[in-house]
Formats: sequence, C-alpha cells, structure tokens
Amino acid sequence: MAGPGPGLLLACCMLTALAGAAQDAFEVSISLEAPMVEYGGSIRINCSTTCRDSGAKGGLETSLTKKDPKDGPGWLTFLLTNITEWASAPQCYFNCGGHQKVANANIIAYRLPERVVLEPLPEMELGQAYNLTCRVLNVAPVRHLTVTLRLGGRTLHTETFPNHTRAAADDVTVTHEITPRRRDHGQEVTCHAALDLRPHGRHFENSFSAVELRVYALPEEPQLQTPHYLEVGTEAPARCTVAGVFPAAGEARFTLSFGGESLNFTVTTSGDMATAQGEVRAPAPGRCELNCTVSVGPVSRSAGQSVLVYSLPEPVLEVTESPTRVNSSVTVTCRSSEADPRGVLLQLRDAKQLRVPSAPAQAPAQYQLTAGEEDNGREFTCEASLGSHISIVKRTSARLTVFYGPRIDDSGCPREWTWQEGTEQTFTCLAWGNPAPAVVCTKDGVSISIGVQWRVRREDAGTYHCEASNAHSSASRDVTVLVEYPNVLLWVLVALAGAGALTGLAVGYYMYYRSTRIRKYRLKQEQAKLAKQGKPDEQTSLNGAAQNTPEVEHSV
Ligand SMILES: *[C@@H]1O[C@H](CO)[C@@H](O)[C@H](O)[C@H]1NC(C)=O
Ligand SMILES: *[C@@H]1O[C@H](CO)[C@@H](O)[C@H](O)[C@H]1NC(C)=O
Ligand SMILES: *[C@@H]1O[C@H](CO)[C@@H](O)[C@H](O)[C@H]1NC(C)=O
Ligand SMILES: *[C@@H]1O[C@H](CO)[C@@H](O)[C@H](O)[C@H]1NC(C)=O
Ligand SMILES: *[C@@H]1O[C@H](CO)[C@@H](O)[C@H](O)[C@H]1NC(C)=O
Ligand SMILES: *[C@@H]1O[C@H](CO)[C@@H](O)[C@H](O)[C@H]1NC(C)=O
Ligand SMILES: *[C@@H]1O[C@H](CO)[C@@H](O)[C@H](O)[C@H]1NC(C)=O
Repeated sequence: MAGPGPGLLLACCMLTALAGAAQDAFEVSISLEAPMVEYGGSIRINCSTTCRDSGAKGGLETSLTKKDPKDGPGWLTFLLTNITEWASAPQCYFNCGGHQKVANANIIAYRLPERVVLEPLPEMELGQAYNLTCRVLNVAPVRHLTVTLRLGGRTLHTETFPNHTRAAADDVTVTHEITPRRRDHGQEVTCHAALDLRPHGRHFENSFSAVELRVYALPEEPQLQTPHYLEVGTEAPARCTVAGVFPAAGEARFTLSFGGESLNFTVTTSGDMATAQGEVRAPAPGRCELNCTVSVGPVSRSAGQSVLVYSLPEPVLEVTESPTRVNSSVTVTCRSSEADPRGVLLQLRDAKQLRVPSAPAQAPAQYQLTAGEEDNGREFTCEASLGSHISIVKRTSARLTVFYGPRIDDSGCPREWTWQEGTEQTFTCLAWGNPAPAVVCTKDGVSISIGVQWRVRREDAGTYHCEASNAHSSASRDVTVLVEYPNVLLWVLVALAGAGALTGLAVGYYMYYRSTRIRKYRLKQEQAKLAKQGKPDEQTSLNGAAQNTPEVEHSV
C-alpha cells in the first residue's frame, strides 16, 4: 500500500508551515511495498517525514531483520528479511526540532497451505450419511481462507473463517455431511482451498485431493432356498438370492457353506438380483446349517437355514407264512431298522383302507388275523415316517396269498340246466380256489368240453359229474341237464281225445235236431301251442378263480 503521495504531504506541510511555521507541525509516514508478505520472505519499508530540517534523524524499530538501509532527504528505507513473525508492527520515528513522531506499519505474513488433504472416503452405502472431511494444513492467515467441497462439479459446501483471528499458521478441518445417491457413484469429490489476500495481495487457489465416490447398496437380506429335510447321501439344490444390489448385481460376492464346508456354486444375475446356486450333500445325519453371505462394497449380509439331515431306511414288512393256508393264523409285522434321528413312527395299513390295523407308534406294529379266502391278495403297507409333523414317509408293501381248496357254488356251477332241443347252449361249471382249480366234467365216463357252445341234442340230457381240483384238495358236484323236445305220441293222444269228444257232441247234436232239420258241420282242428318255453342261462365267464402270484412289492 502506498502512503500519501509525497506531493500531497508536501502541500500539507507547506500549508502548516505557512500557517505558523511551528516545528512540531511535521508528519511521519510509513509505506510498505505490500502489507502482506510470504512467510520467511522480505519486504522493503520506507519511512518518510515532512520535517523540513534536512538533518532530521529517524530510524526503524523492529524485531525483524533489517537489511540494505538507504536514506535520502526526509526518508529512510530498509529491506526487512526473513519475516518469520506472523504479525509484526515495525515502528518508524523521526526527530524534528526536538520533537519525535512515530508511525506504525502492520506486516502480516501469509503462507499458502502446505497440504490440502481430503480424508479417504469409505465406500458409501446408499441412504447413509457420511462426512466428507478436508484438512487444510499449515495455512495463514486463516481469516482469508475459503475452503470449498465439490462433488462432480457441483459445490457442496463452502466455508470461510471470519472469526479466526489468530495470525499464526494453522490447520483447518472442514466437514460436510452427505447422503450419497445412485447418480453420485463414480463422481469425484474435490476440496479447494483459496487464500484471498486481495486487495492487499494476490488470490491463490489450491485444488487438491480428488477422490472418487463409490456408492453401493445391499438393502436386503439374502433369501435361501433349500429343502428343510435332506436324506443322508442325497443331494439337493441350494439357492441364495439377493435383491437390490447396487451398483451392479455382478458385483455381489457370495460365499455359501453347508455344515461349515464351503460349497461350489455359480452366480447368475438378473436386473439388480444376484443368485448363487449350488448343491448341498449330506454325509451324516444331524442338523446342518446352510449359510449364505453376500457382500457388496464393505457390507455383508448373511442368512442361514437349518437343514435336518436324516436317515430313514425302508421299513421292513414281514408276513409270517406267506403263502399261507386258509384258516391258518397270520402275523403281519411292520418294523424299522435304525433311523436317525430317532423316533421314527411306524404304521401298518391295509391297502384297501378297509381296516387300519394300527395307529402310528414308535414300536413295531403287528396285526394278527386268521387267513380267510377273502384275504387272498390283500395288501398291507408298512409306513415309516420321521414324525407326525414331518412329511417324510417310506413304505413297503406286501400282498397276502391264501391258498384254499376248490369250492363249487350255485352261482358258478348251477345244479340243473333245462335246454330246448336244437338250441345253442354252453355248459359251464366254475369253481373257486387258489391256485385256480381245474374243473373236469364227465358224463357216462366221457369228459365234455366246458365253456364251448354246442347244439343241444336229446341225448345230451342226463347227469354230469364235475370235479374241481387244485394242489390243495378237490370238490365235486353233479349237474343235471334236461332237454325238452316235442312228444309225438302225446300229440296223437291229444288229437284222438279231441276227436272223440267232438264226435260225441256231434252225435248228441244230431239226435237233438233230427226232428227239425239236418245241418252239416265241419270240425276244425286247432293247432296247439307249446306250453313251456325255457330260456337258456348265459354264462360268460369261464374261470372266476382269482389268480394271485405270491410276491412282495416294495414301494417308497
Ligand atoms: C521513500 O519515500 C520518499 C518520500 O515519499 C521518496 O522520496 C523516496 O524516493 C523513497 N525511497 C525509496 C527507496 O523508494
Ligand atoms: C530466519 O529466522 C529464523 C528464526 O528467526 C532463523 O532460524 C533463520 O536462520 C533465519 N534465516 C536466515 C536466512 O537468516
Ligand atoms: C459428521 O460430523 C459432525 C461433526 O463433526 C458430526 O456431528 C456428525 O455426526 C458426523 N456425521 C457422521 C455421519 O459421521
Ligand atoms: C463470528 O463471531 C460473531 C460474533 O462473535 C458471531 O456472531 C458469528 O456467528 C461468528 N461466525 C462464525 C462463522 O463463527
Ligand atoms: C468344487 O470344485 C472343485 C473344482 O471344480 C473341486 O475340486 C471340489 O471338489 C469341488 N468342491 C465341492 C464341495 O464340490
Ligand atoms: C451360519 O449362520 C448362522 C446365523 O445365521 C450363524 O449363527 C452360524 O454360525 C453360521 N455358521 C457358519 C458355519 O458360518
Ligand atoms: C375253515 O374254517 C371254517 C370256519 O371255521 C370252516 O367252515 C372251514 O371248513 C375251514 N376250512 C378249512 C379248509 O379248514
């Protein structure tokens, strides 16, 4: 800053001199090249006076290093060097006519920031608040400092320090809270420090520390998908899905473990969803934890699901004495070999649900019966389940075979047939039994074909002897066949009897009317109808015996 111009000072002092020429009417002034000097730098200072006494003595009082003194009429000048005082006030004096006057100058040392440091930014979670912190180190005077935080060209925050009165260099910290948004991802954060010394000096700007903002989001817990129950030695798919991943689903990092062992998996993405898919395999029974951890940026989210690994062997279904004879006692037993976890429930069922022999229980289930013919082919099922609330069931089935000797009844083998001569008829005789009995019918020692149609002849009438037999026993029955045919002798007798009766009537009539008139009468012969007409029974089935192979079926 330049002091009052010498011309002006001169005019002023000339005026005062003219007014009274008082010797104390002099001024001392001080001028600096610039009032602000870089710390450690140097500055020239010029003291001048209006004293007209050419021998006026003056000097400069300062703790600063004075160098290169020069003087002239009414002025003296020094170079102040190594200015390491943040604020100093050199004092200039002149003695004039026995009087002394002083003038002060204020010298402010400035220092450009040594460093502008933007604190490292963490990866920022969407929706969370973070502080951006910028430190400006070793700067003076802070009062002239402006710190600006920018994000991708947009000014976030500007801070000045008008109340910072200390002249010495200082560190300042500026913080600004931001809540990053998706579009902020990848933008640069910058911190600008400006030291504005105007009008007393220059305007310096430092722009430092560009840091890229990284934003991520993992707002949701991963979702696990795997069966809650897994049989020992089997495999099942395990899937872990997470939604809402930012910046990209592909950046989601997964770890999948089952029972503490890490799993191999593949990751697929769709939109903001990422899915890891692997297979779980259970080596031993027990509870195993399926764990999935998803990480994006610095955050991780985990989910766990407990899987019960079980071992449930197929239950054993025992049928004592199968195949069995009719009327013998049969025991059906439903057992389980070792299962894990313990507490397998056993239930014995009748496949037809006609009877439910047992309720679920942990003990072997037993059912006793006396085998009847109707029990042949009856199916029993042994069910083993892990518990009433777990729908894991294994089944074994077995079919009961009951052997019994032939039985002939009226429905399969009628005792009597009445047929018309000349009609087509079929002789049937069925017998029940297991194994299916063979039926042989004979008439007069000659076996006849059963189940084959033939034309009925008169001589087919008679008694047939039918015998059914299987490995166990035999049964027999006699069947009578009646054959109806027109009886010629009977017709003749009927006709003769009719003719005789008519003759008698005619004689009486003639006798009665003989005296009056004689008329002629004709006798008409009437045709007689058949009195009976039997309808032949039809038999379509030839063999009604159930055929059951003795086998044990296993189904799960
Ligand atoms: C100091 O100031 C006086 C009066 O203004 C002037 O005449 C003189 O030339 C100056 N000296 C220097 C070295 O600038
Ligand atoms: C400047 O001043 C400092 C402290 O007053 C001193 O340590 C340093 O030696 C000086 N430098 C010069 C070049 O005189
Ligand atoms: C940011 O800093 C201010 C002051 O230092 C503090 O009150 C605030 O809690 C900080 N915010 C966060 C998110 O750390
Ligand atoms: C500065 O000080 C004044 C008066 O003490 C006060 O009113 C003002 O809020 C302060 N400004 C800052 C930025 O601290
Ligand atoms: C995972 O894959 C690697 C290489 O393909 C294989 O060696 C390893 O046995 C697999 N691990 C499991 C648990 O399947
Ligand atoms: C699996 O996750 C559960 C919490 O979900 C945790 O308690 C358990 O320790 C985890 N197990 C493993 C093997 O990481
Ligand atoms: C079986 O028992 C029933 C009734 O007790 C009896 O009528 C039948 O003759 C018996 N059958 C055999 C082959 O023992």
